[in-house]
Amino acid sequence: EKGTYPHYMLKEIDEQPAVMRKIIQAYQNEQGELEIDEAILTALNEADRMYIIAAGTSYHAGLVGKDYFEKIAGIPVEVHISSEFGYNMPLLSEKPLFMFITQSGETADSRQVLVKIKELGHPTLTVTNVQGSTLSREADHTLLLHAGPEIAVASTKAYTAQIAVLALTAAVAAKKSGRSVDFDIVQELGIVANAIQAMVDSKEEMEQIARDFLSTTRNAFFIGRNLDFCVSMEGALKLKEISYIQAEGFAGGELKHGTIALIEDGTPIFALATQKAVSLNIRGNVKEVVARGANPCIIAMEGMEEEGDTLVLPKVHPLLTPLVSVIPLQLISYYAALHRECDVDKPRNLAKSVTVE
Ligand code: F6R
Repeated sequence: EKGTYPHYMLKEIDEQPAVMRKIIQAYQNEQGELEIDEAILTALNEADRMYIIAAGTSYHAGLVGKDYFEKIAGIPVEVHISSEFGYNMPLLSEKPLFMFITQSGETADSRQVLVKIKELGHPTLTVTNVQGSTLSREADHTLLLHAGPEIAVASTKAYTAQIAVLALTAAVAAKKSGRSVDFDIVQELGIVANAIQAMVDSKEEMEQIARDFLSTTRNAFFIGRNLDFCVSMEGALKLKEISYIQAEGFAGGELKHGTIALIEDGTPIFALATQKAVSLNIRGNVKEVVARGANPCIIAMEGMEEEGDTLVLPKVHPLLTPLVSVIPLQLISYYAALHRECDVDKPRNLAKSVTVE
């Protein structure tokens, strides 16, 4: 129950540090070693390519997961929107493994793909928060998120749980196949939990950002590059679904290929700068929009901040930044919706699980 919280969404945002710790615990054995079902590790290591299938926020988590399986475990990955994939299947590799990411385990668009893939006889794995859900029962294997029930329609703790479980699984799969992993995922996720805590403890700052940037605007843009691009899309989705502000998340480099035409005096732009390799590029993109009158909210990782940045995120492993950078975006969306007197937990036209195609 939501206890003293005004909304489930705020409670679920606050639970995220605990969820990170719960996940570490749930995947550790008595000796404190990480453990993933052997059958899942075998399926991962036998696959020549993994196809991640998901919708909405879970699709956004899948985009982050692709980086983990490719960079940490050396497994090529494609990420697909379930409602697209089912009716227009790409050429498949010889030994594909299908991963369905779904908080509820009930999303019809994802289930129809699972049914088709089972007919083809390929191995399947569901990553879900709900044990015994349809997609969990029907897939060969299941990885649980351990996030606890998510009640608010807007997904928050399930998104970070999905990313954490994918990172952990990629690290264990890498070790299993003899690849060296140059960081300790348990330790890094512990650092992430503390960083998330610092963010959820800064609610007043987030509320002020929502006031400064979103109180009267009709639209907002989110930009980032590489992993920050994935989080930009999630930030835009959160904002539009609960505050009804029209929002778009896209790759920083795409600005000049069209969207920059929409920038007017005062247009809010949320720019993420957590990725060193592209930090100069994203700073350049911010300059481009500022020159056209945009109001930039720059969210940078510690060590990469510059004078005038709006928010500095505590430093975490560069692959794990989405777990931290998404928190202010969740909170800013929450407060923007609250200020507009929207029904935060039950936005119009939306249902928690979408059981029709
Ligand atoms: C957004 C949101 C939706 C879901 C999507 C998939 O906040 O909650 O976009 O992520 O409907 O749902 P699951 O993960 O249950 O398959």
